[in-house]
This record gives sequence, C-alpha cells and structure tokens, in this order.
Amino acid sequence: MIFRQLFDKATWTYTYLLADSKTKEAVIIDPVNTELNVYLKLLESEGLTLKYSLESHVHADHITAGGLLRQKTGTKTAVSGLCGAETADIQVKDGDVFEFGDEQLKVISTPGHTAGSISFLCRDRLLSGDSLFIGGCGRTDFQGGDAGALYDAITQRLFTLPNETLVYPGHDYQGRWVSSIEQEKTSNPRLAGKSREAFIEIMENLNLPHPKLINEAVPANRYCGLDEDERQDAVVRRDLSKPVRILGTGADKVAAAKQVITEVNVDTAQKLISEGNISVVDVREENEYKDGHLNDAILLPRGVLEFKIANFPELDDKSAAVLVYCRTGGRSALAAQTLQELGYNNVLSMAGGYEAWSK
Ligand SMILES: [Fe+2]
Repeated sequence: MIFRQLFDKATWTYTYLLADSKTKEAVIIDPVNTELNVYLKLLESEGLTLKYSLESHVHADHITAGGLLRQKTGTKTAVSGLCGAETADIQVKDGDVFEFGDEQLKVISTPGHTAGSISFLCRDRLLSGDSLFIGGCGRTDFQGGDAGALYDAITQRLFTLPNETLVYPGHDYQGRWVSSIEQEKTSNPRLAGKSREAFIEIMENLNLPHPKLINEAVPANRYCGLDEDERQDAVVRRDLSKPVRILGTGADKVAAAKQVITEVNVDTAQKLISEGNISVVDVREENEYKDGHLNDAILLPRGVLEFKIANFPELDDKSAAVLVYCRTGGRSALAAQTLQELGYNNVLSMAGGYEAWSK
C-alpha cells in the first residue's frame, strides 16, 4: 500500500493519501485547498487515480480541496451525512467501507468534536481526524461539539481497537507524526485514567480562541470548499443517479424549501413586528447586514446557523415566533426549513427579503 502523510504548514493540518500499489486506485483524506497542486503532482508522479476525497468532518480551520479535486480529477467527494454538506457526492455513515483496489477504508463514527466527525481505519492504521490527537483531542466548544459524546466515542470505539493500531491525527501542533492506541490509552493527559466527568470538565475549561477562518471555512466546506461560481459547475457535474441527501442546489432547493415553510409578505411581517413577541433573524452575510438591516434583527448567516444559534438566548424557546429574512427570500426559505428541522415550529420567512422591505 502507498501511504503518504502530507502537512499543510499554514493550518497544521495532516492530509493522507492512500493507494493500492497494484491497481493505483487512491483515496485522499482531509485535503487543504491551498495544497491542491501538491496533490495533483503527487497523483501524476505516482500514476494514481483518485477514487474518493474524504473529510473527517466539516473543518473550521481550513477550506477543503475536495470540490477542486472533483473538478480536476473526477473523484467523488464524501462527508458524513450529519455535516449538512449538501453537494458532497456521498453522505457517509458509520460502518461504510470505501474500497480502493484491494484495500479498504472503514468508517468509524466518532462524534464529539463535531456531530458529524468520523475516523477511518485502514489495515492497522487509524486516521482519527480531529477526534483523537497525539496527547490531546479535538475541541468540543463549537459546531455542535459535545465533550461527553467525544469521550464515549474515543473510549468505546477507538480505545477498543488493538493496542498496536497506529494513530494518525488530523492535526498536530508540535511536529509529531504518529502515535498508537496503546500510547494514547496510557499517556494522553485528557483521557488516560480520566472519568467521563473529569474529561468533560477539562474540555469545558480549555478557553481556546475561535479559529480565525471559521466564518469562511464552515460555509465553504459545506459545499466541498467551493465558492459560489465553482458551485454552479458542481451542480452540472453531479451524478444525480447516486443517492444524496438533498438533490439539486440553488433554485431547486429553494423551491423545495418553499413547499414546507410558511412565507409572509412585507406588510404582514411589518404588522407582526409592530405587535412584538417575534424574533427577527437576518440570515445574510455580515457585510450585507452592515449595509442595512431591520431594527433589532439578529445576524445569523444561513451557512453557520446551526452552529451559532445556541449563542442567542432569545432563540432558546423553539415554540416562540421567528421571522427570518435575507436579500430576496431564497436563503431565508432554506434557513426557515433548517429551523423547522431543528424543532422550531413557528417560523416565518419574509417573501422578497430586505429588497422588498426597503421598497
Ligand atoms: Fe476540526
């Protein structure tokens, strides 16, 4: 088997390229967009065909090269179905197996760093993403993180692998490359001999700064790292015969959302706001919000809505009325659908958006 551990200096990210030496079929795990040319050169020099580009989770600290690799090589992109990465070709779940030549990569669900975090096992090698690090673990304080879930995943799913299993993490900030299950079980300061409660306490008191790229990376990574223009191309390229969680993007998705949500026009919205008892949520991007917005509107861009909603106590009550708006009513329809999926049962989307309101 060909096994390459690649490093992105800017974000301290490890990317893994694995290939079957006979058939030359390859998979890549957690590629970084700025390293695209390194991957393409490596594939070419080794004569490899990239079958899958896999993500251990939707990253907050770098943008994936998955979408670009799909455009350049025709590879299939795959992300956990729990990540909301709608344009990925494959929505991955626990126990899935990716075959490349005679080799196999098995998916182990390891939620906790994010709800959709997964690890991969290939022969005696565990690619642990941001779940288990060397002498550490991924943080659990944003993106649906859950310290208890991470403890359970590591102790019940990863520490039950054979002791000699090699651990290859998604990051290391001290220049270490590889560990083993035994080493982590016995010497990881957050986990060795620690109870679930003790672990949760450690994780709740890390007080880490927010990743610099989170507002850019998380929304982009939900589209395999592509920007708006590149996404249009992705829509055309997608193989619609394959099962995916949501078919189509853009206009299709908005039309589908409008079937299941409630829209109100600007006049009704204005009346409801003047009566009070309704939270107003602006789901546009920060720069659009800055250029003008409704009074008292909460800024919660649609791309990070699920991850950031917990920061707003005024949205704790899922039965309270919420009015969402965007520029023209498309993104707010999608956001309203997401809110309904999160359990909010009194959500209204303002038809025509801020443009109609301004008029
Ligand atoms: Fe991460």
